[in-house]
Amino acid sequence: MTYETLLTDLEQGILTVTVNRPDKLNALNHMVLADLDRLMDLVMSDPEIRAVLLTGAGPKAFVAGADISEFLQASPDEGAALAKRGQDLFFRIESCPKPFVAAVNGFALGGGCELAMSCHFRLASDNARFGQPEVNLGIIPGYGGTQRLPRLIGLGRAMELILSGGMIDAAEAHRIGLVNHVTTPEMLLETARGILLTILSKSPVAVGQAIAAVNAAAVNDVDGYAVEVDRFRGCFGTEDMKEGVTAFLEKRKPIFPGH
Ligand code: COA
Repeated sequence: MTYETLLTDLEQGILTVTVNRPDKLNALNHMVLADLDRLMDLVMSDPEIRAVLLTGAGPKAFVAGADISEFLQASPDEGAALAKRGQDLFFRIESCPKPFVAAVNGFALGGGCELAMSCHFRLASDNARFGQPEVNLGIIPGYGGTQRLPRLIGLGRAMELILSGGMIDAAEAHRIGLVNHVTTPEMLLETARGILLTILSKSPVAVGQAIAAVNAAAVNDVDGYAVEVDRFRGCFGTEDMKEGVTAFLEKRKPIFPGH
């Protein structure tokens, strides 16, 4: 499948997706959102794709936000529709049973920071910058930033970042838990791939169930403990569980069938 604004490369079950508008710092215009929606259809339906590594083209930016040039002509209702569209797309990423990792290789601002936060976790290169600069434009984060940022870094820190419209560097993002690891730009994708390959050696059933259980209370505002019981049940009786437990008892490495 080809995309106007995304590059894709599938290797060892990991689909590397590069948002590819480097001359506009990979800003999310309507076409990028449409391409990402089509990408999600593919990720959900293609069994060859077992994980997604999301990054931005060029040395400067992951994604520098929603495309500001599309804002001025939008009515309030169109603004609301745009926010809803971005939110729906980012929910699809967040609730995907296959792991998504953001490799933040430069500016992750506004919708770019929100896109990274919709992934299951984040790595950054040491030149990365994060922020929600929407107040500088007279708007607020609209693709889930007001909800995910406080969840990830705490209410007070999120308030300061969102209200000040400022930026933090990779070291600060690491210190406050917005990213899990910081590397050099050269090592970023390789480090992310290494982590994903470890995850891919585990039971795909368990990984998918774990994502749903971890997300339950935070994302869907439901009783997370009840969802955990349900998802725990969902692992029992699967071939993955039989293989994992049998392999342990036989003192060998499991080979998970993925169902
Ligand atoms: N939407 C549309 N275009 C964007 C963009 C965005 N969010 N971010 C960057 N661009 C474009 C610039 O307009 C410029 O295009 P041009 O060369 O046709 O003029 C190009 O990308 C390069 O950006 P530039 O501003 O020249 O780079 P810089 O290194 O001087 O500054 C930033 C980098 C990230 C600080 C700056 O681009 C910026 O503040 N971007 C907007 C960030 C933002 O507010 N995002 C939230 C949007 S809701």
